Amino acid sequence: MSKVPYPSQISLDWPKKDFSRVPYEVFTDPHIYALENERIFRADVWNYLAHEVELPNAGDFVTNWIGSTQVVVTRDKDQSITAFENSCAHRGAQLVTQVRGHMVKVACPYHLWTYSLKGDLIGVPMANGVNGKGGMPQGFDKAQHGLSTLQVQCHGGLIFGSFSKNPPDLLEFLGPHSLSQIDRLLVQRKPKVLGYLRQRIPGNWKLYNENVRDPYHGSLLHQFQVSFGLQQPTMKGGIKLDGDLKNTWNHSILSDADKDHQKWVEKAYEGTGKYNPNMKMADPALTQVPLDLADGYKTTILSIFPTLIIAQVDNTYAIRHLRPKGPNLVELHITYLGFESDTPKQTQDKLLAANLIGPSGYISLEDGEALRLVQEGIQSREPGTHEVLEMGGVGAIQDTDYLSQEISIRGFWSHYHKIMGF
Ligand code: FES
Ligand SMILES: [Fe+2]
Repeated sequence: MSKVPYPSQISLDWPKKDFSRVPYEVFTDPHIYALENERIFRADVWNYLAHEVELPNAGDFVTNWIGSTQVVVTRDKDQSITAFENSCAHRGAQLVTQVRGHMVKVACPYHLWTYSLKGDLIGVPMANGVNGKGGMPQGFDKAQHGLSTLQVQCHGGLIFGSFSKNPPDLLEFLGPHSLSQIDRLLVQRKPKVLGYLRQRIPGNWKLYNENVRDPYHGSLLHQFQVSFGLQQPTMKGGIKLDGDLKNTWNHSILSDADKDHQKWVEKAYEGTGKYNPNMKMADPALTQVPLDLADGYKTTILSIFPTLIIAQVDNTYAIRHLRPKGPNLVELHITYLGFESDTPKQTQDKLLAANLIGPSGYISLEDGEALRLVQEGIQSREPGTHEVLEMGGVGAIQDTDYLSQEISIRGFWSHYHKIMGF
C-alpha cells in the first residue's frame, strides 16, 4: 500500500477547531482520495449496500460500490445475506458484470472457478489434473480460497457492509435520531422500488455530503422550490445531529406562516432577483401531490456518514448513495421508493413527483451543477486556502431550529477530520 501516504505526510491546515474553515485540498488531492479508501471506506464504518426488498428470493443479487471497491450482495437459501468483493480468489477477475439479477452460484468467466452464494470456493476445474498430469498441488485447500467477504448487518431493511474485523455496533453507529427517521421513512410502511437512476457529477463526493447538509442553499439555488412553495425561508425547520458521527437530519415543515408566505417571501428575496411571483406552471399537478404522512414535514433529509442519504422531498422517497470515482467525480445512485400499501393513484403521484429529483430533476438538476461549479472553482486555489462555514453561527456544533445554517456541514467535517487521523 505504498501509494497511500500516512496522514502525517499530508500537510493540511485546519485553522478553526469548530471546522468553520475547510482546506480545499480535501476535494482535489489524489493522495487524500487514496487515503479515504483506507481510513473511511475500509475502516470502522458501516457502508450502505442495498435494501432488502431488492433481494426477495434466494439467488438474488445486487452490486454496489464502497469507495473504489465493487461489492456483490447475495441472498442464500437460508435467507442470509452475504457481501463479497467482486474479484475472483484465483487471479482477481471481476466475477459479476450485471448490476443486479439472479444466480444459483457465482462462476468466474476466466477459468470457471465457482463459489457458493456465501462466497465459498466450491469448484476448481481440472483440480486433479488431466490424464493424471498437472492439477493443483496436494494440500490445496478450497476452504482457504473463498471470496473476500464483508461483515453484514441489516436494520430497517437497509443492508450495511463493513470491511472492519471489528465494526462498531450498527445501532450505535446510526444513532437514535437516525433510527427514528429510518423507522418513519422505511419501516412503518413496507417499501417497494419504483425505479433507479444513476448520475455522474463532476465533483468530489464530499461536496455532495455538504450539499445535503446545507439547507442554506435550498431556498436560494433552487428556483423551482422557491417559486412553487416547496422550500421557502419562511418555513419552519432545522437540523438534528446524531452523536459523534454527526449524522444529520435536516427538515422543513409547513407552518402557519406559509399560508401568508407571499409577503414574507418577497421580503426575504428583496434584491436577489430570484423570486418571480409571476412565474406560473402550465400544469401544476406535480406540486399538488398530497403528502402521505400526516406529520406535515415538507422535506426531511437524513444523511448518514459516509455516503448514505435517505430523503423525503415533498412526497418523493428515495435512497441516495454516493460512489466516489476519483477526487473530481462522484456517481450518485438513486433508488426511488413507493410503498406496498400505496394505491395506484399514490404510485402514479410518486412517479410524477419523482421529476423533482435526479439528474434532470426540477430541483436536483441545480445541485449537480452547483457541485461542478465548486469543483471547477477550487481546482487552482492555492494550498492553504479554505472554504468559509459560518452561516447559522460558529463554535458549538449543535441542533438548530432554523434552516439557514452550515452547522451540520461542520459536523460532517468534525467526524471526517477525526476518522482520517488529520
Ligand atoms: S481469475 Fe477467476 S477463475 Fe481464474
Ligand atoms: Fe439542493
